[in-house]
Amino acid sequence: MARQSQTSLTNQTSALETVRADLLVLGLFAKTRRLPEAWKKLDQAANGAIDHLLKLGDFPAKAQETAILYPQGKQAAKRLLLVGLGDKKSFDYNVLRKAAGTAARMAVKLSAARMALALHNLAPDTLKPELIGQALAEGAIVGNFDYRDHLPKQEDGSSEINHLRVILIDHRPAFCRRMNTGSKVGAILGEAQNLSRSIDNMPGNEINPPSLARQAQKVARQYGIRCKVFDDRQLAKMKMNALLAVGSGSASKPRLIMLEYNGRRPASGGRPDAVVVGKAITFDSGGISIKPSANMEAMKFDKSGGCNVIGILAGLARLKRPLHVVGLIPAAENLPSHTSYRPGDIVRTYSGKTVEIQNTDAEGRLILCDALHYAARMRPKAIVDMATLTGACVVALGPHHAGLFSNRDELGRQIQKAAEGSGEPVWLLPCGAEYLEQMKSKIADLKNVSGREGGACTAAAFLGAFVEDVPWAHIDIAAVSDTDKPQPYRAIGATGFAVRLVLEYLRTV
Ligand code: BES
Ligand code: ZN
Ligand code: ZN
Repeated sequence: MARQSQTSLTNQTSALETVRADLLVLGLFAKTRRLPEAWKKLDQAANGAIDHLLKLGDFPAKAQETAILYPQGKQAAKRLLLVGLGDKKSFDYNVLRKAAGTAARMAVKLSAARMALALHNLAPDTLKPELIGQALAEGAIVGNFDYRDHLPKQEDGSSEINHLRVILIDHRPAFCRRMNTGSKVGAILGEAQNLSRSIDNMPGNEINPPSLARQAQKVARQYGIRCKVFDDRQLAKMKMNALLAVGSGSASKPRLIMLEYNGRRPASGGRPDAVVVGKAITFDSGGISIKPSANMEAMKFDKSGGCNVIGILAGLARLKRPLHVVGLIPAAENLPSHTSYRPGDIVRTYSGKTVEIQNTDAEGRLILCDALHYAARMRPKAIVDMATLTGACVVALGPHHAGLFSNRDELGRQIQKAAEGSGEPVWLLPCGAEYLEQMKSKIADLKNVSGREGGACTAAAFLGAFVEDVPWAHIDIAAVSDTDKPQPYRAIGATGFAVRLVLEYLRTV
């Protein structure tokens, strides 16, 4: 599958000037003019190179800003990298996470295979070593990820690093040990996110519903989790007609992929602690209500929610949480053809509710309504779904927050809290009865679109009509699931947004 550089993490208790590395990374707050006490010996060894830079004021140290130094001194590291941490007042684990990502990407660029991180050196004492270690590991692992499967090797002249070795540095042994504990969790979360990204980045000619199911099976085998795939014939028997309708225009027929992790000891059946559901439209052309051609290629990322479910279940198995969690991925390809579903069709969904199709491009809510109802019938303690559901959410929140919707205040708060910790921010939006009212059809129970007003909220309200009274949260990741803007801490393409957030949530239940 993916041609991907590995990242491994270790820790080391040592003084900065003695750290042997291709790159020693230091974090610096904005507008620092005086050499920090903690760096005095390093700077002495480096012939005053850091002090000189600070005095000149050449490095404002805005967040993710970088400067490389090549001091020909006695320090053991070949190069020094300063990474800006921005304003001290706005410093948190997320700043640290992004700084580690920035450093990892710089290390790759410089072919520096051994990178020592001392980003937290000047951080306030109130920060927890475990959470520092976790954030640094997540940042480095997510930063050292690039989708290069279809590029020739060494395309840009640099020698690729197959293995980035990251060493977390602190001079206090106890602190180092605790940081190491956190970095093990961070590595699992970061790798879970990259697993989602590696599948999500694959184009529609490689990933369709059946091949996505094979990817899920492969991951399930690797991590010892159960995987069951329902094919189109089984889906017809189960009357999952909304999922089938959406996929009817494509030669690659729909699948419902179910992953199951049971970490309860003894493994008891019964009600799952959570069902995690993810939309997987392997390509969304809009169908008969076809989309404009501009940027349509980005609709390969319409499977992000489903790819996240694969990452989350793999992560959960590696974390060995004592929970019973089911992952559900409704997968279909939305194409126009002579077999496609059409505007005007009326579909009887798995729940028995009928839906009038007014726009075949509002297909996410259709595949999800069948999967969510299937989830609700398991009577889990909570359902969490992730979906690239609406352009309206992109308009409402931009690329900075995902939309969060819930039928329970408490679950909403739990997800918000997990989001803060993971640095994957969400914003709570309403999805109450007044929005569902807008989705009522004159000739069926519901229609699949209403006007443009409150489009993310009406879509969420539609989903909420299929979960019965089970506590449910919906995360609209349309704006955040992929990026075409390269950032210092992260590559372009799939982001895996919500993998760490949902894993953080599952770590607390
Ligand atoms: N997959 C899209 C939503 C989307 C838009 C994701 C932009 C990422 C970026 C979804 O299936 C869709 O097309 N939704 C329509 C719904 C409309 C017809 C009510 C939309 O948002 O335009
Ligand atoms: Zn669509
Ligand atoms: Zn879609």
